[in-house]
Amino acid sequence: MIILACDHAGFLLKEQIKAFFNNENITTIDVGTYSSEPVDYPDYAKAGSERVLENKLNVGIFICGTGIGMSIACNRNPNIRAALCNNVEMASLARKHNDANVLILSGRYINRNNAIKIIKVFLTTDFEKGRHAQRLKKIGVI
Ligand code: RB5
Repeated sequence: MIILACDHAGFLLKEQIKAFFNNENITTIDVGTYSSEPVDYPDYAKAGSERVLENKLNVGIFICGTGIGMSIACNRNPNIRAALCNNVEMASLARKHNDANVLILSGRYINRNNAIKIIKVFLTTDFEKGRHAQRLKKIGVI
């Protein structure tokens, strides 16, 4: 399942991404926020991360203004590997090398079309394991 989360600065992009998935008949779980009213990104990082960790197959797409606050907040959870990706190459490497389970996007610096390209790569790229698994083990990933 795809879990969507954002703060007010990510709200517009999150809505555009949700509309894209709806159009493709792909179900998403949207944990909010649901408007452009100011909120605190850690609350949505936590709510989204909890939903992601309900199932190993879940992935998150979380958005704040820069993507930085959401990344910092998500990565406090030892089972979340959240990667801020500003282009498709970063999305590919976040999956291949880091086995990222949350894609973080910037609502202020990434437009809808680039976001969709980044998402498609993130969702279709596998973890390469091998030396990368050994490195993840060193940061506590079983
Ligand atoms: C909200 O103004 C902004 O600080 C937030 O969306 C995010 O960019 C934090 O890192």
